[in-house]
Amino acid sequence: MKLDYEWVRAQFPILGNDADDFSFFDNAGGTFPCVQSNRISEKFYNQYKMQPYGETQKQAEAGRLMDVGRAKMAELVGVEIADLTYGPSTTQNFNNLAHALTDHIVAGDEIIVTNQDHEANIGCWERLAQLKGAKLVFWQVDASGELQQDDLRQILSAKTKIVSFTHSSNIIGSINNINEIAALVADTCPQKPLLFADGVSYAPHNLPDIGKLNVDAYCFSTYKTFGTHMGIMYTSKRLTKLARAQCHFFNIGVENYSVFDAAGPDHAAIASLAGIADYYADFARYHGLNEAKNLNQTREFSCAIMHEAETALLDELLAFLGEKSNVTIYGKSASAGREANVAFTVEGITSQSIVEALGAKNIGAKYGHFYAYRLMQALGLDDGVVRLSYAHYLTQADNVKLLAALDKII
Ligand SMILES: Cc1ncc(COP(=O)(O)O)c(C=O)c1O
Repeated sequence: MKLDYEWVRAQFPILGNDADDFSFFDNAGGTFPCVQSNRISEKFYNQYKMQPYGETQKQAEAGRLMDVGRAKMAELVGVEIADLTYGPSTTQNFNNLAHALTDHIVAGDEIIVTNQDHEANIGCWERLAQLKGAKLVFWQVDASGELQQDDLRQILSAKTKIVSFTHSSNIIGSINNINEIAALVADTCPQKPLLFADGVSYAPHNLPDIGKLNVDAYCFSTYKTFGTHMGIMYTSKRLTKLARAQCHFFNIGVENYSVFDAAGPDHAAIASLAGIADYYADFARYHGLNEAKNLNQTREFSCAIMHEAETALLDELLAFLGEKSNVTIYGKSASAGREANVAFTVEGITSQSIVEALGAKNIGAKYGHFYAYRLMQALGLDDGVVRLSYAHYLTQADNVKLLAALDKII
């Protein structure tokens, strides 16, 4: 089944006005919110924005809408409700997680991070290591910016307590196979280090069945998966047992409550999580899945169609850039094993001026380090890169416009 662009684009009100001919290629910075999520936010703010749960119909409904949001999100990604923690962002969630592990890490332990990651999944572990006298060990990228599993094998040791890495790079788009890495770590380290993955860059392209990933924590951000601005963190039962709770002590053990929930989140944003799940379900129904077992199945069905559509456009861009002798693409030169984030530089033209020239044609892009500062250092990129990142609502017409504009600039 092919993606129906007319239906899809009608679900994103920001795209509604095609008259301004705006094409947006900075989706890795944040996707547009879907109407299903927006409707719930609006309804919540207009009718139910009060301390939720209570004796009146309105208080009770506010609480019910939040419960529905949590339950639908958990079902969508294949985990239990209490396994998900909601925070303002992934950066904050990782930070809370590192804080929760201050008792678990002792002097002499080793924490492995990568220099392919966004700083959200490095800095918090560096601070924890410094605080506890532990050693921060980098799983370094190779000359092309890729992480090689053999290099990880070399640095795993009996002292390794944590391995934290990205599911896919927000710069080079390469996918790191979580379950292969988990198997490698488990085979090499009998002490079974904790395994954490940053899914922020991966999830918008292919929201995973988190329950099938062999990780202790998995983070992604809802403002990059068609919803409001929040971070979601999955945590395993094992992690929950050995970390220090971050919630109020009297909330430990409360049904459907994560011990990593350090503070009350935005009630409306929690309720509107249901809208993200509804979008995947509506998408699946519209594209032919009539009887879904659960939301997780609608996610899987929808992602396959979204991913195929995105990949076709990604391949066109990669082929176009590949033919330009003055362009360096960072990461794989074809779509296999990568997501639709493309970073490149052009000899003799600054990244800034390329993005400005695209902007003049009403094409939204960005340049810089995108908080993957250490990857930029490893690749020797002082000027940063131009990044073009897709979401499934981008069309062939957007791509034609982009390539025509790039052809004039490069
Ligand atoms: C790969 C990756 N990880 C983490 C983050 C941080 O997410 P947040 O903005 O929710 O803190 C980002 C944000 O761009 C990202 O791209």
